[in-house]
Amino acid sequence: MRFAERMSLIKPSPSSMAGQRVRELRESGRDVIGLTAGEPDFDTPENIQEAAIRAIREGQTKYTDVGGMPTLKLAVIEKFRRENGLEYKQNEIIVSSGAKQVIFNALMCLVQEGDEVIIPVPYWVSYPDMVRFAGGTPVFIECPKSNRFKLLPERLEEAITPRTRCLLLNSPNNPSGASYTEAELKALAAVLLRHPGVFIITDDIYEHLLYDGNQFATIASVEAGLKDRVLTVNGVSKAYAMTGWRIGYAGGNAPLISNMVKLQSQSTSCPSAISQAAAIEALTGPQDVIASSRQVFQARRDLLVERINQIPGLSCIKPEGAFYVFVSYEELMGRRTPQGQEIHGDVDFVLHLAEAQGIVVIPGSAYGMPGFFRVSIATSEKIILDGQKRIAQACAQLG
Ligand SMILES: Cc1ncc(COP(=O)(O)O)c(C=O)c1O
Repeated sequence: MRFAERMSLIKPSPSSMAGQRVRELRESGRDVIGLTAGEPDFDTPENIQEAAIRAIREGQTKYTDVGGMPTLKLAVIEKFRRENGLEYKQNEIIVSSGAKQVIFNALMCLVQEGDEVIIPVPYWVSYPDMVRFAGGTPVFIECPKSNRFKLLPERLEEAITPRTRCLLLNSPNNPSGASYTEAELKALAAVLLRHPGVFIITDDIYEHLLYDGNQFATIASVEAGLKDRVLTVNGVSKAYAMTGWRIGYAGGNAPLISNMVKLQSQSTSCPSAISQAAAIEALTGPQDVIASSRQVFQARRDLLVERINQIPGLSCIKPEGAFYVFVSYEELMGRRTPQGQEIHGDVDFVLHLAEAQGIVVIPGSAYGMPGFFRVSIATSEKIILDGQKRIAQACAQLG
């Protein structure tokens, strides 16, 4: 069967594939632990569940405006004002089926053949494929561990060419947890102000998972002079344990939003009306779930970081946000498994963890950094500790 050429530009998401591998190993009878989850392990708070049930009972089961119902847009506007000091009008807001669809829509509207899109490395797995699917070329900037995986202004300046269409920022970052301070964003903004042709998409989906009392900052509010060329993307998935509800949103300039709505009108139409009702409750109801889950994740992060750094050959820094720990295994490169297999790269290493100890993590190459692997802390302390022990045992088996 023949498929469109554009399908060869992309591959299945490595994180979904890792989840599938865990299920397959389990089905084959193996005792397997997966530290791969990209979603909170808590239930959606009850008040949000109830709002959805109420919406069903009240007949809010029809199509809504393509770009989201006005009451949800008002809740989003209020959220941006309250938490980020950003002012948007209704025609500057879009609601989609997840932040993922927002980003996909934006790239499809902005990027065409010949355009370059700057992506700091490590990156969320979907960015490069979305850029390629839109016809663009991803331009990667390595952000080393020595700089806490953050993009430096001088590296950004070097990467910008006349073909640069867009920069994709993600803070706190998946997989590294890197989170930009206001001052760091100001320094990046100073470069971007010199290049008026560059648009900025900022993916703030982990905004509320920022630890150690640090203050979240986003580029459109840090530098008002950029606001018109920034799309500020966010959603309810991670902050309110609502990944399956599929609601993401963004604020940006009216012509871009109107194009994104046009695209959505010809693909998925409005996001689920019931999920939209739930998202209104999430954004306007009690907010205590945010602080309580942040506390839980911070404690798990501290526990895992300490334990990982006790394993000879592995090292990691404390992620500032999100719910992943990005671990370097570089010292174990070139070692051999008990079967004599040499560890050449992250895929060999991660396969060894799975085969030797039934522990599944995601190889760093999925995020553009093969010297690392990603461990998720979106699971119980007991599983994290069991997982850490298995990782330690698998490393000790390498000779
Ligand atoms: C950096 C990043 N952006 C966006 C998303 C997708 O969020 P949503 O569930 O709102 O589509 C994820 C999910 O893993 C993510 O890690």
